Amino acid sequence: MTRSPNKLIPAEFSAIPSLAASDAVGVTAVDELGAGALEAIGVLVHSDGDLPDGVPLDRAALGRAGFEAKPGTTLVLAGAEPTLLVVIGAGAVDDLSEAGLRDAAAAFVRAVPKATRIGLRVTTIGTVDATSAARALTEGALLGRYRYDALKATAREPKLATVELLLDGVDAAAASDGIAQGIVTARATAIARDLANTPPSHLTASDLADVATILGGRFGFDVEAFDKQELIEMGCGGLLGVNAGSAEEPRLVVLRYTPAGEPSGHLGLVGKGIMYDSGGISLKPSDPMHLLMKMDMGGAASVLAAFTALRDLGATAAVSGWLLCTDNMPSGSAYKLGDVLTARGGKTVEVKNTDAEGRLVMMDGLVLATEAGVDAIIDIATLTGAALMALGPSTAALFGTSQPLVDRVKAAADATDEPAWQLPLERKYRKQLDSDIADISNLGGASAGAATAGLFLSEFVGDTPWAHLDIAGTMQSDADDSWRSKGATGYGTRILIEVARGFTPVA
Ligand code: BES
Ligand code: MN
Ligand code: ZN
Repeated sequence: MTRSPNKLIPAEFSAIPSLAASDAVGVTAVDELGAGALEAIGVLVHSDGDLPDGVPLDRAALGRAGFEAKPGTTLVLAGAEPTLLVVIGAGAVDDLSEAGLRDAAAAFVRAVPKATRIGLRVTTIGTVDATSAARALTEGALLGRYRYDALKATAREPKLATVELLLDGVDAAAASDGIAQGIVTARATAIARDLANTPPSHLTASDLADVATILGGRFGFDVEAFDKQELIEMGCGGLLGVNAGSAEEPRLVVLRYTPAGEPSGHLGLVGKGIMYDSGGISLKPSDPMHLLMKMDMGGAASVLAAFTALRDLGATAAVSGWLLCTDNMPSGSAYKLGDVLTARGGKTVEVKNTDAEGRLVMMDGLVLATEAGVDAIIDIATLTGAALMALGPSTAALFGTSQPLVDRVKAAADATDEPAWQLPLERKYRKQLDSDIADISNLGGASAGAATAGLFLSEFVGDTPWAHLDIAGTMQSDADDSWRSKGATGYGTRILIEVARGFTPVA
C-alpha cells in the first residue's frame, strides 16, 4: 500500500530516527583522548581546586572571559589548533553529583553543535561510583544533542559519531559498563521523545501498535495488540468510550518481557496513550498549549521505550505493560457529557467532562494489570493540567497506595534526575467524584485536580501495590535544559527502567 505523504511512521526502523542515530554513534572509555581526530575536547573545570593541566588560561583569564565554572556554563577556547578546547563549568568539587556529570556532558555537546567527534576529560568523579559516572556522562552527551529532525529537509546539526571519555583514576571495566548502560538508557529516552514529538496524524493508535511490534522484535519483548472488536469483547468501555468520536480505531497494546532466569518479581506498567487530546465535546479552546496535545501519549511512549532497555540491561524481573491508545475527538459519534461508561470489570462511570479522558482509558489498563496478578503497578500519564500548575515543568506528581513502592519510584527519580514529588491521595476529596447515577464520576472539584484524578485511578487497582506518575508538566520542555531538549523530554523512561530492571515484590 502506498503511504500518504502526511504519514511518516511507521516504516522501517529508520522511521524512529533516534534508532539510526544511536546505532551510528560510538562511545568509548579511553586512556588518552585522540586529539588529532577529534573536533572538540571538553574538560570539566571546578570552581575550586587546581585547574586541570592542558587548560591554557589561568583562573583570572578565564574569569575575564566570563567563565566562573558554574554548572551548566561552557567557554569554547578557539585557538590555532584544529581541535576546539571547551572548558565546562562543574561547580565546587564537593558538590559533584551524578546529575552534575550528566548536565556537564549535555552542556558540552551543546557548546559545540557542529562537532561530530568529541572527547570529554573528567579529572575527578568525587564520590560518584565509576559505573554511574560513566553512565551519566554518556546519557548527558547523547540526550543533550537530541533533535527531532525527521520532517526537516536537512537536519539542523550533525549527529554525534564518536564520543571518547577520559576519566582520570576510574576503573576501565566499570567505565565501559556504565557507558554500555548509558547507551541503552539514552536510546530508550530518545525513542520516547521521537514518539511524543511525532505529529498526531503520523502516529495513530494503530501505528503505535505497529511500532511496538517492530521494537519488540528488535529488543526482545512480546507485543500483542487488541483492536476495537476485541476491546468490545474484553469490556474495555473506557478506551472505547473515549475512542467513540474518532475516525481512527483504538488499540490496547500489551507488552511482555520475560527474563532469562527465574523472575525476581513481576511489575506492571500502564501508560496513557492519547494520541491527540482535543478535549472531545468538552473541546479545548485553541491556544498554543494544544500544540502539545500530540504528546498526550507521553506515558505510553515512556513505558514502550522502557521495554527497549530491559533485555540489554539484563533485567531480572518479569515486566508487563499496557498501553491504552486512542485519540480524543469530537464528532457526531463522540461520547457525550452525561454518558455512562462501563470499565473492564464492571464499574460504571458518569462522564461529566470529556476532556478528563485520561483516567477513563487508564481505568481499563489498571484493571487488566491487576487481573494479570502483577506484584505491583506503576502507571504514568499526562493526566492533569493541575500537576503542571502545582509542580511546574521539571517535577512530576507522584501518588500511590503503597509507600514502599512510592519510595522506590522516588529513589529512582532522584537517581535519574527525573524529579518527582509525592502528593497526598486525600480521601476527604473522594466525595467530589460521587455520581448520582453511576459508581463514580470522572470529574472532581475546582482544586487539587491531580489528587482527585489520582483518587479516581486508585479505585481500579484493588489491593495491588500501586504508584502513579502524573507527567503533564514534565512531558515537554520549552527550552534545552540539562538532559532535557526542547520538545518532548521522554521523562519517566529512565525511572521506569531503574525500578523495573531489578524489581522485587514490595512488602
Ligand atoms: N491531557 C490533559 C492534561 C494535560 C494538560 C497534559 C496540560 C499536558 C499539559 C488531560 O486529558 C486533561 O485535559 N485534563 C483536564 C482534566 C479536567 C477536565 C478535570 C485538565 O487538566 O484540565
Ligand atoms: Mn483531556
Ligand atoms: Zn489528555
